[in-house]
Amino acid sequence: MLTYTDSVKMIVLVDNYAATPSQVLAEWGLSIYVQVRSEGRTYNILYDTGQTGIVVNNAERLGVDLSKISHIVISHGHYDHTGGLLSVLERTGRDVHVIAHPEIFSKKLVIRGTLRYIGAPFTKRDLEDKCNLVLTRDLVQVCPGTYFSGEVLRYGYPEYTPDMYVARDDGRLIRDSMPDDAALIINVRDKGLVIVTGCGHSGILNILEYATSVTGIRKVYAIVGGLHQEKETPERVRELCEMLRKRDIKLIMPLHCTGIRALHVFLSEIPDRTIIGGAGSIIEI
Ligand SMILES: [Fe+2]
Ligand SMILES: [Fe+2]
Repeated sequence: MLTYTDSVKMIVLVDNYAATPSQVLAEWGLSIYVQVRSEGRTYNILYDTGQTGIVVNNAERLGVDLSKISHIVISHGHYDHTGGLLSVLERTGRDVHVIAHPEIFSKKLVIRGTLRYIGAPFTKRDLEDKCNLVLTRDLVQVCPGTYFSGEVLRYGYPEYTPDMYVARDDGRLIRDSMPDDAALIINVRDKGLVIVTGCGHSGILNILEYATSVTGIRKVYAIVGGLHQEKETPERVRELCEMLRKRDIKLIMPLHCTGIRALHVFLSEIPDRTIIGGAGSIIEI
């Protein structure tokens, strides 16, 4: 049965840019602290961990106590979302649940001129004695009203996996369709769904369709996270903005790999819905 949360507060801990005078650092990566309040209780979740561990510094600067986090949700296996995990686990202790798709550990590569490893800087074994590792391809409830999407079904909308491959154990390279790309879906009472994305490799429109069909809730109130638009033409970004306007999404905070040029298109096409964000940004719904 679908559950609700009364409200959610998000603090962007890591982003490509800093958006506060609070002496936070920026890096290519993403990490968002998500505090969910439901029936008088508070639940503290971390979605992604940035690239290098600056998330620890930034959490301190922004007054976020990482030791209070009960669940860490990993959006996908890329280094800029997983790279801070071991640093975070030193603060949380081993009772914390880490929820992710099993393919986050696959050997992820990108071919752009040269072959470059872009996967997680640890193995499954590295994590096993440091946390409660929950690997699943399915939708699972993290806390009341808050869900790990599991594998996002694709509905024919654009996906964003350019030049991405996985090296298999037999040495062969296969295209990486990013089955591990997972969103956080938060069902806020009287508002609708809040969708948090990492890089949005599976495509934000596919994610929207999946989130609404799996929950049965058509109303999407907000989107926060990376939308992977940096290689898209302004025309394609405009088309996306038009789709988001039609869905009447009230609040969109494009972060990380959305890209500055695409952000400008968002700001000119749907200025009433777009919020500029960065490390230090706070969203309360
Ligand atoms: Fe990313
Ligand atoms: Fe990514």
